[in-house]
Amino acid sequence: MRTITMRQDSNNAPLIAQAAALTVAASACWLTTAVAALPPVPVPVENPVTEEKRILGKVLFWDEQLSSDNTVACGTCHVPAAGGGDPRSGRHPGIDPGTIDDVRGSPGIVSLDSHGRPTEHPVFGFERQVTSRLSLSNFGSLWASEAFWDGSAAGEFRDPLTGRVAIEAGGALENQALAALSNEAEMAKHGRTWQELTTKLVRATPLGVASDLPDDLATALRDSPGYPKLFADAFGDPAITPVRIAFAIASYERTLLPNQTPWDRHQAGDSDAMSEVEILGWQAMQDFQCVKCHEAPLFTNNDYFNIGLRRADYDPGRQAVTGDPEDAGEVRVPSLRNVGLRPRFMHTGEFQTLGAAIGFYRTGAVLAERDVIPGGGNYAFNMSNVTEGDIRAFLENALTDPRVRDERFPFDRPALRTERHGADALPPVAPRNFGATAGENSLTLSWDSPADNTGVVDYVLARDGSVIALLTATSFVDADPPLASSVTYTLLARDAAQNESPPARLTISRAQ
Ligand code: HEC
Ligand code: HEC
Repeated sequence: MRTITMRQDSNNAPLIAQAAALTVAASACWLTTAVAALPPVPVPVENPVTEEKRILGKVLFWDEQLSSDNTVACGTCHVPAAGGGDPRSGRHPGIDPGTIDDVRGSPGIVSLDSHGRPTEHPVFGFERQVTSRLSLSNFGSLWASEAFWDGSAAGEFRDPLTGRVAIEAGGALENQALAALSNEAEMAKHGRTWQELTTKLVRATPLGVASDLPDDLATALRDSPGYPKLFADAFGDPAITPVRIAFAIASYERTLLPNQTPWDRHQAGDSDAMSEVEILGWQAMQDFQCVKCHEAPLFTNNDYFNIGLRRADYDPGRQAVTGDPEDAGEVRVPSLRNVGLRPRFMHTGEFQTLGAAIGFYRTGAVLAERDVIPGGGNYAFNMSNVTEGDIRAFLENALTDPRVRDERFPFDRPALRTERHGADALPPVAPRNFGATAGENSLTLSWDSPADNTGVVDYVLARDGSVIALLTATSFVDADPPLASSVTYTLLARDAAQNESPPARLTISRAQ
């Protein structure tokens, strides 16, 4: 554990410019954030927040096409109504399956080979892979100089294509975004290149597989601009690069301030904001030293601790980053804002109720390597059931921002394809008029959507049995057709629930 000081650079005013303030013009809703007790969100000088970047970032964050199989967006694992966590959960077996070191993590994509074809994973088979820690709230890290449970996404951000430093300090969110996009369990097929992702976005219809767009996104996408236009609006020219993707996503995240909780109103002098029980719970949080780590107003001090939950040989936590045995098993203190919305708790996801998570501090059934409370004091062994209830009421109600719970602006979002109920519906029928025209060294394939195309969200194109593309468009240029005398393409239409149509087939023989 060590003390983190946020980079404060008084010569660089924009570094600490409040993201919200910069977007005041965008919507009157921002004006109501004025009573916030939260400090301004640190913004790196290299990536100031603008409304165009926020919009682009919101589109990217919710676009499942950023994953290799069009089924997982950032937002799949970071849902506002679930407190920025994942409403689903899967089991990660840890170092040996079916034992106490199992973790509840987030389901990502199925393991895909470099062609994007499902391959059997040694642990997960053909099922979706599961992350090895519980999904953290994406809003919890806005003020942290390092992101992830172990702080492994640090502040210096380099362009993955050139190695050039794009952000000197304060770029943990940018680093984190690229980490998710290249993670082969979360979003990427094996060995996905940045070029593959950016080329895909050039052709993709933004949010083409999502539905029920919130107003700001519907307005931005009204005249069907492609991604190049959205990048041009945000960055001045249409080039799509990994740095720009990260800049836009991080800018969007920096505008998601959960600062309208009853506790914020209480602090601002509204004596009706919190109930009596919640006020007792707030008092108990202070009496029982909780706030020494879950420090107000962020409800985290962004430092790393081992609270004795899990053996460090199961997950070294912070030690994996620092190499210091002192840091074994330590994880970053999670913010407790919106914690009442989270479906599971702790980095292991082992508690399913808030009461169980609070109760953990009372049981004493913890590991010896637990860290002491900073500044001294005892864990809450002598807490009564009544006090535990007060704390639960405080965390559940007084720290919940109703806009997050109800997914209202700026926490509103589109519906994801995987959330739509298509599972019981009949699968789509096959695409029609599948044909090809030959260019000098390429083949242009095109087709029409199925006659009854309700519910078709994308197409899976295979060449001689290997998937070569997942598309929302109804054409594809195969720039590299094989030299064999004949090649067979198969095309399937898929609905939101990934039900597949029967294949349309096309065999092309070379003239001998
Ligand atoms: C498959 C689920 C999944 C997907 C997809 C995913 N994440 Fe995450 N995210 C996680 C998990 C799990 C963690 C915690 C990992 C850890 O700390 O070891 C996390 C951590 C984070 C954090 C760090 C929060 C903190 O307090 O440190 C941010 C920010 C974040 N994700 C944003 C994103 C963005 C942006 C994307 C898309 C580019 C994304 N996530 C895609 C599961 C996911
Ligand atoms: C020594 C620092 C420290 C103290 C004191 C502390 N916590 Fe925590 N708290 C943590 C850390 C670290 C985690 C994450 C642990 C993990 O995942 O392994 C955590 C997790 C939690 C969680 C789960 C949050 C989530 O999103 O999963 C809750 C709820 C919580 N603490 C409440 C409390 C309460 C109530 C008290 C006082 C009785 C308290 N904490 C005292 C450090 C502390």
